[in-house]
Amino acid sequence: MIFSVLTHLWALGLLGVSTVSTLESGGSTEPTPCSKGCTCLHDDYSAELNVYCSMCNLTEVPSDVPLSTRSLWLDGNLFTSLPAGSFKDLSNLDFLNLQSGQLATVDAQAFRGLHMLAHLHLERNRLRSLPPSVFQNMPNLASLSLHNNQLLRIEDKLFSSLSNLWLLNLGWNQLVVLPEMGFQDLHGLRELVLAGNRLAYIQPQLFQGLTELKELDLTANSLKVIKANVFLKLPKLQKLYLAQNQIVTVAPRAFLGMKSLRWLDLTNNRLTALHDETFLGLHSLHVLRLSNNSVSSLRPRTFRDLQYLEELRLSHNKIRVLGERIFEGLGHLEMLELENNLVTEVRGGAFLGLSRIAVINLSGSCFQSLPDQVFKGLSKLHSLHLDKCCLIKISSQAFMGLTGLRRLFLQQNNISVVERQSFIDLQVLQQLDLRFNKLEFLSSHTFYGLRNLDYLLLSGNLIRQITLDVLHPLQHISWLDISDNQIESLQNGTLQLLPRLRYLNLNNNALSSLPVEFPDNLDQLLLLGNRWRCDCVAKPLRDYILSKPHVVPRQVGVLPEGEEPRTLVNIYNNITCRIPPSLTGMDLRDIHSEHFHDC
Ligand SMILES: *[C@@H]1O[C@H](CO)[C@@H](O)[C@H](O)[C@H]1NC(C)=O
Ligand SMILES: *[C@@H]1O[C@H](CO)[C@@H](O)[C@H](O)[C@H]1NC(C)=O
Ligand SMILES: *[C@@H]1O[C@H](CO)[C@@H](O)[C@H](O)[C@H]1NC(C)=O
Ligand SMILES: *[C@@H]1O[C@H](CO)[C@@H](O)[C@H](O)[C@H]1NC(C)=O
Ligand SMILES: *[C@@H]1O[C@H](CO)[C@@H](O)[C@H](O)[C@H]1NC(C)=O
Ligand SMILES: *[C@@H]1O[C@H](CO)[C@@H](O)[C@H](O)[C@H]1NC(C)=O
Repeated sequence: MIFSVLTHLWALGLLGVSTVSTLESGGSTEPTPCSKGCTCLHDDYSAELNVYCSMCNLTEVPSDVPLSTRSLWLDGNLFTSLPAGSFKDLSNLDFLNLQSGQLATVDAQAFRGLHMLAHLHLERNRLRSLPPSVFQNMPNLASLSLHNNQLLRIEDKLFSSLSNLWLLNLGWNQLVVLPEMGFQDLHGLRELVLAGNRLAYIQPQLFQGLTELKELDLTANSLKVIKANVFLKLPKLQKLYLAQNQIVTVAPRAFLGMKSLRWLDLTNNRLTALHDETFLGLHSLHVLRLSNNSVSSLRPRTFRDLQYLEELRLSHNKIRVLGERIFEGLGHLEMLELENNLVTEVRGGAFLGLSRIAVINLSGSCFQSLPDQVFKGLSKLHSLHLDKCCLIKISSQAFMGLTGLRRLFLQQNNISVVERQSFIDLQVLQQLDLRFNKLEFLSSHTFYGLRNLDYLLLSGNLIRQITLDVLHPLQHISWLDISDNQIESLQNGTLQLLPRLRYLNLNNNALSSLPVEFPDNLDQLLLLGNRWRCDCVAKPLRDYILSKPHVVPRQVGVLPEGEEPRTLVNIYNNITCRIPPSLTGMDLRDIHSEHFHDC
């Protein structure tokens, strides 16, 4: 008894608070009576009345909404049904938000009288069905959101009077089939979302009549086959999303007539082959996504009509051979993604015709070598990903013609040989990643031509020596990582060749001493894991380190490779002495200065 009185008072108290705020807000012109528990605000410019009853725990639609209301927010409330005439006097209403509630049933007459309504939000409720005539007499409806409900079916005539509708969202329901003529009256529709349902097939007539449609989203359904002619009457369609279905087959000429299509997404399906005529007629296509399928081969002419394509994604497929001229016709292509395929052979001429290509990603295949001049003509290529490709050798002609290349990724291969002057055309290359290969010998010809190289990563190889002439072409370098190799010494004068050097990583080599001639710009020097000799020879190095503790810190924070999110970890930069035996295990920085008295 006491408990129920208290709750009652508490509820009244709450209502009291909102009423006060309502009076205040309406008070600027004349006090507007507002629905209990809601907030009424006039739009600053149009003076239209907006009524906010969001998340008010309402168990029914308020019956005292002001008649002049233009927008009504009833989202996040507790009512489970909309009875007939719920909004019958709101003939000025333009916007009605009923999303994120508990709605399970809607009476056929629930929206009676909403002649002006343009936007209706019913998404994120529990609707399983809608009466066929529920949207009759709403001639101005422009957008209708029904996504994230549990709709199992759509009645034939449900949308038949909505000729001004431009957005219909039916995504994330449980629709298995759609009525064949269900959309035929939606002459003004621009965007149709059917994603996240269980649609297994599309009837030939389904999209007929949607002559204004610009976007069609069929992502995450159960489609298995795309037949010819289903999209035939969609001349204005610009974006078609078919990702995350189970599509095994796309019929030849399936997209014929789609003159405006710019974006086609078939990611995450089960395609095993692309027919010569699959993409026929797509003269406006800019983006084609085919990643995560099982395509095993590409044939010449497959892409011949796609002269405006800019992005082609074919990663995570099963392509085995990149044959001659397979990309011919793609004269506007800028990005080609082919990573994680099963390519064992790249043939000469594979990339012919890609005159505007900027990025090629081939990482994660296994083809051991590249034919001579395979990238010839690709002077706009900017980034080339050839990491994890089982390459064992770079031949001197492989990179011919790549005069615009800025970034070359060759890490995690088995490269033991880089032939003479292999990089000679790469005069604007800035970043070269050769980490984790099997390089042993570098010659004066290895890096010849790389006069703009800024980052050189050689970590994780078998390099024993870096002589003066190896580094001679690299005047521009600022970042040099030679960690995890077997370098025993650096020649006097080596580092003086690199006036811009800011970062030098010599961790985990076999160094016992270093010439102390570090460039003035050096910001960081890493020396962990070597075999330092800590007698008089080490005095200049010790003096340098002690005078520049910020350049040779005892610990540094680094971002490790791999999984996101990456967090900074501290690694040591110990300079551990190996000889003389009396100092073994000590850090050069910690040896008392008396030891260097007589040096
Ligand atoms: C709605 O009810 C919940 C649970 O009883 C309560 O926590 C919340 O404060 C109520 N909200 C309003 C606006 O009354
Ligand atoms: C492709 O599939 C892999 C593994 O199933 C997944 O991790 C990746 O996100 C998918 N890629 C795309 C583009 O959907
Ligand atoms: C190419 O592949 C590599 C390795 O899988 C990846 O890190 C990189 O982001 C990809 N590049 C593009 C442009 O997708
Ligand atoms: C490198 O070669 C070895 C054997 O020679 C092989 O086991 C390994 O998988 C190869 N690694 C790469 C990245 O190609
Ligand atoms: C290294 O070269 C400099 C001149 O560049 C010279 O002063 C110094 O003695 C040389 N050191 C050794 C160990 O040869
Ligand atoms: C580096 O030195 C610190 C003490 O300063 C020691 O705790 C750490 O184990 C050393 N790490 C290595 C890798 O030698």
